[in-house]
Amino acid sequence: MCGIFGCIIREGEAVKLITDGLKRLEYRGYDSTGVATIQNGQMSIRKDKGRIEEVVSNLRILDMEGQIGLGHTRWATHGAPSMENAHPHTDSNESIALIHNGVIENYLELKDELLEKGHIFKSRTDTEVIPHLIEEEMKNDIGLQEAMLRVLRRLRGSYALVVLSTHEPDRIFVARNESPLVLGISDNGTFCASDVPALLPYTNQVTYLRNGEMAVMEIDGYQILKISDETRVGRETQEITWSPEMAEKQGYKHYMLKEIYEQPNSLKDGLRLQERYLDLLTQFLDRGKEVFLVAAGTSFHSCLAGSYILSKIARITSIPVVSSEFMERYGSTVGIDSVVLTVSQSGETYDTLKAIDQARMRAATVLGITNTVGSTLTRVSRAYLIQQSGPEIGVAATKTFTSQVLVLAQMALRLAKSRGKLSQDELDELDEKLQKVPDWVEESLEKLADPIEKLAESIMDEELFVFLGRGISSATALEARLKVLEITYVPSLAYPAGESKHGPISIIEDGVTCVFVCPQGETRPHIVGSIMEMKSRGARIISICEEGDSDIIRLSDQVIEMPKGIPEVLSPIVYIAPMQLLAYKLAVMKGLDPDMPRNLAKSVTVP
Ligand code: G6P
Repeated sequence: MCGIFGCIIREGEAVKLITDGLKRLEYRGYDSTGVATIQNGQMSIRKDKGRIEEVVSNLRILDMEGQIGLGHTRWATHGAPSMENAHPHTDSNESIALIHNGVIENYLELKDELLEKGHIFKSRTDTEVIPHLIEEEMKNDIGLQEAMLRVLRRLRGSYALVVLSTHEPDRIFVARNESPLVLGISDNGTFCASDVPALLPYTNQVTYLRNGEMAVMEIDGYQILKISDETRVGRETQEITWSPEMAEKQGYKHYMLKEIYEQPNSLKDGLRLQERYLDLLTQFLDRGKEVFLVAAGTSFHSCLAGSYILSKIARITSIPVVSSEFMERYGSTVGIDSVVLTVSQSGETYDTLKAIDQARMRAATVLGITNTVGSTLTRVSRAYLIQQSGPEIGVAATKTFTSQVLVLAQMALRLAKSRGKLSQDELDELDEKLQKVPDWVEESLEKLADPIEKLAESIMDEELFVFLGRGISSATALEARLKVLEITYVPSLAYPAGESKHGPISIIEDGVTCVFVCPQGETRPHIVGSIMEMKSRGARIISICEEGDSDIIRLSDQVIEMPKGIPEVLSPIVYIAPMQLLAYKLAVMKGLDPDMPRNLAKSVTVP
């Protein structure tokens, strides 16, 4: 989604911090870049379609002077990527510069009203109505703050807004509804951004703005107000423990690669969950008559794997649902006896938050698993767990997937214990295996780097991939397919292997590449039949199986051999690692940027 950065500083030029801050938000995905600063009461604005470096150099943005300013990277929702549609947007006199992340639902109605009053619009965005509305309100002889409050009360939809104006050249006004916005403070001044990594080089003291709040930033602090009635909100700053280096690439060519290799450590952290929150979450989960697992994208695949784990370990039936479908499918039946466990790396995904709203309205118990402290998900959940993956910058989720599945597995184990569903020996054995997961991932990544490189070379020109797995491995297959699809753009299918004969088999012909996920376990005997079905139709078989699994090795054209002893129920956490690496290598060999896949965003905060 759109990246936002703003600052008021004592030392240095704001533009330097703004462009650096925006670069740290590049992972959110964007198509245009824009900056505004004020110097000696004069506003300057430069913006265009394109990457930060390109726009900064073409428009000589670093020459812009001033110690107050804002910057934006746009991810188009209304109006194509273009100079006109890039933010900041202004009022008629260019005395107000405004940047926005989100979607204004009633902008057409507001625009008609402004057009009637003679306002001229330069862009096709929903955002541009806002500075014009503020301009219109200011004609009533009121200050900028009051005008902004009046306008905010009229907006329907989602927004994180930042306003810079020559009317108040020493202040920045910000507001939030549904789209994330965080404030920061240091000895050098105050900052705002759509996400923490942009602030980390300047401060680790932050305050999250909540829905329905506005803040007035000045050089030495900020004041938060409720938009509805202007009451002042007192909120302590929070200390963020992520260092700026943690959010950088640390020598890896891409964030995605760094994050793949961080998994042994992030998984170790994921095993250090706070006991009392783990207990609290499992107790709530246990009370539900029905359990929904709600998420989007990769987090949905974690839920899918989680539903197998909950069933196999804790004997709990859970219903995994993609969040954008939750309301339609279960919105009218979810109720006081339902538990809705939502999983979201960012804690800000629009569809997931909407599903939560619906569930809360119907008195369901909402629980959360997220990677983002202070995110909306943490505030709207009855209880939540922080998955402890650390910041993930690559748009394609890697380490956050494995942490989420690990958290779900720990919950399942806890539930199995409290419900008496497994014997002490079974519990101890599973717990022991769970503790070994980080080492298995480390071992696989170390051993498999070269074989995966060779495999990628041999299949890099393929125009179609089919991923198949049975049982819990169907979740691994879906996630592996998503990685390949997201960053290589090669059309790919993923299916539960048993279902493949009801459709996907029709596209199999000589040379089509089928990737089978086949860990040892209950499903292992059945996967052999699925491999034979595809092989007999000419498919090229790539299998990811346990080391020394001679039947599978004999049937396959190429194999990726995984460490021995990984229980099937935990296998997605380990078996996905070489698949992530394969997707990464394929993207790099094709000359694509795996960190910034086209049309995708790290955090989708709009409908
Ligand atoms: C976007 C990202 C995915 C992510 C999904 C859900 O599509 O590109 O990587 O899995 O959103 O995000 P969440 O933050 O809710 O896990």
